[in-house]
Amino acid sequence: QTEIYGKGALMGITPSVTTDPRLLEEQARRSMGLRSFNYVAGGAGEKATMDSNRLAFRQWKLIPRMMRNMDDQDVTVELFGQKYDNPLIMAPVGIQGIFHEDKETGLAEVCAEVGVPYTMSTASTCPIEDVAAANQDGKRWYQLYWPQDNDITLSLLQRAKANGFSVLVITLDTWSLAWRPADLDNAYIPFVKGTGCQVGFSDPVFRAKFQKESGTTVEEDVVGAARAWIGDVFSSRPHTWDDLAFVRQHWDGPIVLKGIQHVDDARKALESGCDGIVVSNHGGRQVDGAIGSLDVLPEIVDAVGSRMTVLFDSGVRTGVDVIKALCLGAKAVMVGRPVIYGLGIEGRHGARQVFQGLLADLWQSMGLSGIRSVAECNRRQMRRVQHAG
Ligand code: FNR
Repeated sequence: QTEIYGKGALMGITPSVTTDPRLLEEQARRSMGLRSFNYVAGGAGEKATMDSNRLAFRQWKLIPRMMRNMDDQDVTVELFGQKYDNPLIMAPVGIQGIFHEDKETGLAEVCAEVGVPYTMSTASTCPIEDVAAANQDGKRWYQLYWPQDNDITLSLLQRAKANGFSVLVITLDTWSLAWRPADLDNAYIPFVKGTGCQVGFSDPVFRAKFQKESGTTVEEDVVGAARAWIGDVFSSRPHTWDDLAFVRQHWDGPIVLKGIQHVDDARKALESGCDGIVVSNHGGRQVDGAIGSLDVLPEIVDAVGSRMTVLFDSGVRTGVDVIKALCLGAKAVMVGRPVIYGLGIEGRHGARQVFQGLLADLWQSMGLSGIRSVAECNRRQMRRVQHAG
């Protein structure tokens, strides 16, 4: 952190990806293709929930402590019995091939370098095996968009397990595509096809099923395959709590449910024997008008936090945001859009810079707040202050 700051502020050797969170989106807009930028920046409806995610952070203010011995400052965390270098997790983000040619494999490699677990999306443009190879020295989690077809689910779980993915994250909030104006304007399938990216098509069970049903191969009919894949995964029919038993039976590692916003669902997740949850509204991409993610974190932590691992995402833009979520009881925090903007701007080099900036800010701001470790993050370090307007 002193290296980045020393080089930049003192010697004028500034990072090529801005460290100013307010300027990052603008830099990405200028650097990325407009359609892929719109896909990242887009949200549901009029993006009211995206705004709420940020407003929720603004209402919490840290109360720094002074004259504490910071020699042993430590940002490591333990999650599901494993030690992690810091409390950041790369959020699952689909179709990374449309943002930069470095795609999932490049980002997975960077995550290993910076000590952040890479959560691979089911909607990836690279196969599970390639991502694992790029992330050999890292920690990797697998995010499941839960297919209706159990054979495809099983194939994905088995491949993830065989390739060293340790934690399964099941995303619950995207059982149907949301009303996202930017995606409609983008004409999604032709756009993704135009980039040469294939989503999820590498799964052998899906490929065999598609060929049997359509009489053509995935390569011969990419649009048809995309429609079949989307039809199965985003089928407009949610799985229900009873269905979890099937996944439990076929996954022996930790299971984390992503997209929990209601305290009663957090309790259900606990009763269902899950190991963790991600309090998340998918970055405001699903239900516009849904409550800011941070606004529901405290009540969920109070209800289940002592008995399961509560993780958080949606709206994290700075190291200070990470501290705030930790102080409200999250055990670690997923970061999405900022890293993807970095990837879009300069590939793996850009993503690395965003992580380094976030980690430096986290370290410095924790230190200056007199918080020595993640375990010391608690609500007494903050106060909610609502300013009018
Ligand atoms: C996502 N997100 C997501 N989540 C998931 O479970 N599987 C996925 O494939 C995707 N894909 C995806 C694409 C893009 C472009 C974005 C921006 C987000 C949601 C993601 O994991 C996370 O919940 C949000 O990114 C958090 O919001 P912020 O902090 O990025 O605004």
